[in-house]
Amino acid sequence: MSLPEPDTDLRQEAADTATRAAASAGIEVTDARDPEAARAASVLFDTVWGRDGAAGAILAPEALLAIAHAGGQVSVARAADGTVVAATAAVLGRDHTIGQVFLHSHVTGVVADAVGRGIGKAMKWYQRSWALERDIEQVRWTFDPLVRRNVVLNLAVLASGVSGYLVDRYGPMADARNRGLPTDRLEARWDLTAPRVRAAAGGRVATPDPDALRSAGAEVALDVGADEQPVRHDTSAPRRLVRIPADIESLRERDHATAAAWGEAIRVTLQPALDAGARITGVTRDGWYVLAERGGVTELAHR
Ligand SMILES: CC(C)(COP(=O)(O)OP(=O)(O)OC[C@H]1O[C@@H](n2cnc3c(N)ncnc32)[C@H](O)[C@@H]1OP(=O)(O)O)[C@@H](O)C(=O)NCCC(=O)NCCS
Repeated sequence: MSLPEPDTDLRQEAADTATRAAASAGIEVTDARDPEAARAASVLFDTVWGRDGAAGAILAPEALLAIAHAGGQVSVARAADGTVVAATAAVLGRDHTIGQVFLHSHVTGVVADAVGRGIGKAMKWYQRSWALERDIEQVRWTFDPLVRRNVVLNLAVLASGVSGYLVDRYGPMADARNRGLPTDRLEARWDLTAPRVRAAAGGRVATPDPDALRSAGAEVALDVGADEQPVRHDTSAPRRLVRIPADIESLRERDHATAAAWGEAIRVTLQPALDAGARITGVTRDGWYVLAERGGVTELAHR
């Protein structure tokens, strides 16, 4: 699927969004084409993921240069003093079932002391503009369904959709973020030209209202209970609410058993439903997913 003809308005709009987001985050984003930039990106990924030398690099500099050379995206963000504070690496993909080229975004990372300043968001808006410039209309990536920050960024702020639940997608991983836990993931599909993505680029983000949904018949399938334990409820309501903890990353460090229980709870709540055709139609910033059976929902309006 390529744009019917160069949609210069859309590309310009996407470039403007990226420029605004970078300016507001205080960064400049550039593509890494030389060994120095590739090395900086490689080091950043290993630092952000807490990957030590024995496990090997997440992506070695030469692999990053190969990805860029083959038409993929490798970009770095520099703060005003020139320090590299974020990086992203994405490979070109082709969906053979529909013959569509897409960008598979493998990693995006922001250094610990710069998170929460809009840099991650700016990297993704840059990626959208980068892809549209090359006639690529969809970006895909995987993300941990329990990391609330990523869930909100991906599904609310960027307005990507979820195409499925992947059980233990990467198998055992050696970095500090994933060590000792199954690597379940949701797959994001970001349709770069979709009206809801254009709305999100303009700052209009769909925000569901769990109370209103409950009044309209939605039922809670998973909630956060005492001591941050997962509490599951049996429900076959066509619209269900699924809550995730505020900070699973710190829970994984403090309380492995509870974190592992969350891994199990989110898998049994989301996987069978998504496999059966249910969709995630929205998320709230305080950690509620809205899950809707196929055919039983209307899209959430943008405010
Ligand atoms: C995920 C990551 C790239 C996001 O980058 P970031 O610079 O921290 O994110 P931003 O500051 O751009 O925040 C993006 C949105 O997430 C939301 N958000 C941030 N923390 C949140 C939290 N704890 N709960 C809910 N929402 C949160 C923010 O509200 C923000 O949206 P807004 O500015 O419109 O309000 C970064 O935190 C990171 O590198 N994490 C570790 C590696 C990782 O998980 N990478 C992603 C998988 S490849």
